[in-house]
Amino acid sequence: MEIFRVLYLYCLLLCFIKPITSRDIITPGILLRDGKTLVSSSGLFELGFFSPGSSNARYLGAWYKKSPSTIFWVANRDKPLNNGRRNGVLQLNDRGILLLLDYTNNNTVWSSNYSLNRAYNPFAQLLDSGNLVVKNGYGSGNSGNLDQLLWQSFDHPCDTIMPGMKVGWDQETGLDRFVSCWKSSDDPGRGDYVIKIDRRGYPQSVQLNGSKVMVRAGPWNGFTFTGFPNHNQNPVMNVEFVLNEKEVYYKFDLMNNSVFSRIIVTTWGTGQIFYWEIQTSRWQLVTTSPPDLCDNYAWCRANSICNIDNIPVCECLRGYEPKNFKEWNVSDWYSGCTRRVSLDCEASDGFKKYTGIKLPDTTSSWYNKTMNLEECKRLCLQNCSCKAYSNLDSKDEGSGCLVWFEELLDMRQFPAGGQDLYVRVPASEIDLFGNGGHGSISKKKLAGIMVGSVVTIFIIIFGLISIKRRRKLKKSEKEVMDLPTFDLSIIAKATSNFSIINKLGEGGFGPVYKGTLEDGKEVAVKRLSTKSGQGLEELKNEVGLIAKLQHRNLVKLLGFCIEGKEKLLIYEYMPNKSLDHFVFDKSQSSLLDWLKRWNIIHGIARGLVYLHIDSRLRIIHRDLKTSNILLDAYMNPKISDFGLARTFWDDQVEANTNKVVGTYGYMPPEYAVHGQFSMKSDIFSFGVMVLEIVSGKKNRGFADPEYNLNLLGHAWRLWIQGRPMELLDECLNESCIESEVIRCIQVGLLCVQQRAEDRPDMSVAVLMLNGEKLLPQPKVPAFYTASDIPPNPTSLEQKCTQFSQNEISQTTLEGR
Ligand SMILES: *[C@@H]1O[C@H](CO)[C@@H](O)[C@H](O)[C@H]1NC(C)=O
Ligand SMILES: *[C@@H]1O[C@H](CO)[C@@H](O)[C@H](O)[C@H]1NC(C)=O
Ligand SMILES: *[C@@H]1O[C@H](CO)[C@@H](O)[C@H](O)[C@H]1NC(C)=O
Ligand SMILES: *[C@@H]1O[C@H](CO)[C@@H](O)[C@H](O)[C@H]1NC(C)=O
Ligand SMILES: *[C@@H]1O[C@H](CO)[C@@H](O)[C@H](O)[C@H]1NC(C)=O
Ligand SMILES: *[C@@H]1O[C@H](CO)[C@@H](O)[C@H](O)[C@H]1NC(C)=O
Ligand SMILES: *[C@@H]1O[C@H](CO)[C@@H](O)[C@H](O)[C@H]1NC(C)=O
Repeated sequence: MEIFRVLYLYCLLLCFIKPITSRDIITPGILLRDGKTLVSSSGLFELGFFSPGSSNARYLGAWYKKSPSTIFWVANRDKPLNNGRRNGVLQLNDRGILLLLDYTNNNTVWSSNYSLNRAYNPFAQLLDSGNLVVKNGYGSGNSGNLDQLLWQSFDHPCDTIMPGMKVGWDQETGLDRFVSCWKSSDDPGRGDYVIKIDRRGYPQSVQLNGSKVMVRAGPWNGFTFTGFPNHNQNPVMNVEFVLNEKEVYYKFDLMNNSVFSRIIVTTWGTGQIFYWEIQTSRWQLVTTSPPDLCDNYAWCRANSICNIDNIPVCECLRGYEPKNFKEWNVSDWYSGCTRRVSLDCEASDGFKKYTGIKLPDTTSSWYNKTMNLEECKRLCLQNCSCKAYSNLDSKDEGSGCLVWFEELLDMRQFPAGGQDLYVRVPASEIDLFGNGGHGSISKKKLAGIMVGSVVTIFIIIFGLISIKRRRKLKKSEKEVMDLPTFDLSIIAKATSNFSIINKLGEGGFGPVYKGTLEDGKEVAVKRLSTKSGQGLEELKNEVGLIAKLQHRNLVKLLGFCIEGKEKLLIYEYMPNKSLDHFVFDKSQSSLLDWLKRWNIIHGIARGLVYLHIDSRLRIIHRDLKTSNILLDAYMNPKISDFGLARTFWDDQVEANTNKVVGTYGYMPPEYAVHGQFSMKSDIFSFGVMVLEIVSGKKNRGFADPEYNLNLLGHAWRLWIQGRPMELLDECLNESCIESEVIRCIQVGLLCVQQRAEDRPDMSVAVLMLNGEKLLPQPKVPAFYTASDIPPNPTSLEQKCTQFSQNEISQTTLEGR
């Protein structure tokens, strides 16, 4: 009996030991040779050797078994096995250290670090989270150490944040877990773009380029990072933030383990969230940062708030004014804002409350988790260098205290979500504005520009949806600049070899085709018929810049392809074609009621303000016309062909000023005749479009029967005669709001005035459209019909002036 008992116990012991010796658990010795892989027990993840992209170097890494090109961890990222042969070996020694050796010479290429914990019969295991761990096995009489963690790959992330991985600091050991991009798709070495936790002041998550902050997620407010107020509504993941003496980190967990997801920082410096789509077995890109202008770190510089729905986007805080008015008035934010009146530094100072804010940079902040808002305010008043305060945590009633001592940087205004911020202002400023002051002005602007908050929310939701787009992730695709390149073969296949059936139209730079990628995504492919002498590198650079232009009223460039003579640009596909299909087509025009047209006019205006003023490139479009305004599924307008103006025309126009490119009917006289263009030329084209949208008639091709005038002349005549409503498209009579129609016509006429100096800037035109600016009386428009353009420019000029003189005398007669 005794023997059986011993055997029974022995068996029990064996049963306990058994898992440790099973296939996925490795005890000291050789774990892996190049050519073999290790799979996690559920079969999701695989560890092995690989060569990235077109490189021959060998790396040890881990990937998704279903998507072997998605490598989420690399052990020896900066120390490849370089000889091109497959002689890497992964070993575990009895001190619990992983060693990557080159077995031809037994050199150690890489090793895991020593642990503070003592090793007992260590073993290594690839867990079902993708984490490669080294743990203690059963110890000699030291069972307390069983399963104690010695090392884990999750403490040494590469470019991917996996579910369950902590990003942040172990405050006791000083271990900083952060992700950094690959150098290129061929080289997993540590690149310059980093996502990490900045521990200075109140800890916050930042995305860096070297040491420079690119995007700041903002501090944690109990629910989310204040920079992404809607982040936690993500149905796939749940984010957790921990801050105590021992640790400061955040991590995300999946709400549903069958939907896996990952966050990466790309070689071109954007943060991206993907999830795995089971139906198609592909990664789906959920979101990309930065999503818009205001997400760029400190876009408006010091003491200024960025509001993507305002024009201009930057506004000084209460009590502050632009440091350099001249720059500020032309939307150059570089100098930021400074105090208008210095603080009294007395108890009489007050605070202006801002709501819906992304809290300022917290690197120079101070916090206390237990103080309440009232204590926080008192604290701030006591110290003259305190600039602002807020709650730390907005859960429940709100708790904690966060105060700022330096200039306030990188704030933005959200239409929904965000936090309250109390900005210190001297007593004199409180009196100056009374309650509400600036705040109410900016709210009014917001409401005006967006035609009511419903539309705002709609557009924001749509904006988010449009970010969600599938992207084919192939390791062989090389990213040039910021933009993915597509293989010519893929595009040829997608467009059925550029078949005539797929042709959508002919743009200024060549034909446009509809394409359907392998994964079903629809794209528009522009095949450039360029003979421009521009170098390939310059072209790539330009295209890279254009890719950075992001605005909801610009068509998004998805990628490009340059192979041999082919130069292709791949855009998002717009299901509703272009505006001219609706406005000028009797059967379609009734689909565009007044509200839609009003919305379209505003959208175009906002896109143009972005191109002219708010984008870093300051682009003149040069070929604005209704066929270049595309409509998405919700009839939102998107300007297309915008950056091409810059790419292809600069050389040509400078080399040959006589060669005028553009479309007659949309060109102002100074451009058509002298080849002079400026932003005011775009304004002219905008004015023509406004009048076309209101009237449903083409400027070129319209001839008013009585006076043989073109559309501009016709509109002006009706205006002068006090009958502007007669210009309105007949099909609109019921849906229109008369005051809006008249305002649009007036703005349209102001934009097409003969003299460029008389035409308003785009930002002014927007204010006029919103009724926030008094409208001057328009002067005579530049009007001529295309059929009148003679081959000789000088005679055209004479003709233009003749025409306007005739018109003036005619209308004066009419008036009497
Ligand atoms: C590498 O080390 C192993 C074990 O220590 C030994 O058997 C082998 O001969 C060594 N190889 C070389 C090339 O030194
Ligand atoms: C190992 O860890 C120590 C302390 O955490 C650190 O100073 C050292 O640089 C690390 N070594 C390697 C090779 O990572
Ligand atoms: C990162 O910094 C480098 C050097 O300052 C700069 O050339 C590059 O454009 C920056 N990248 C981005 C995405 O801003
Ligand atoms: C998890 O996702 C799968 C696949 O999408 C779905 O079938 C399942 O119902 C989800 N489970 C939960 C708890 O949401
Ligand atoms: C800038 O604009 C403001 C407000 O419109 C105006 O008061 C100021 O004179 C302008 N300053 C310059 C230098 O143009
Ligand atoms: C935070 O504030 C509370 C209450 O005022 C105080 O007791 C505590 O010492 C403060 N903590 C720190 C770290 O200053
Ligand atoms: C005000 O705050 C700053 C920054 O924390 C600190 O250096 C300074 O000593 C404080 N001054 C007073 C009077 O508390």
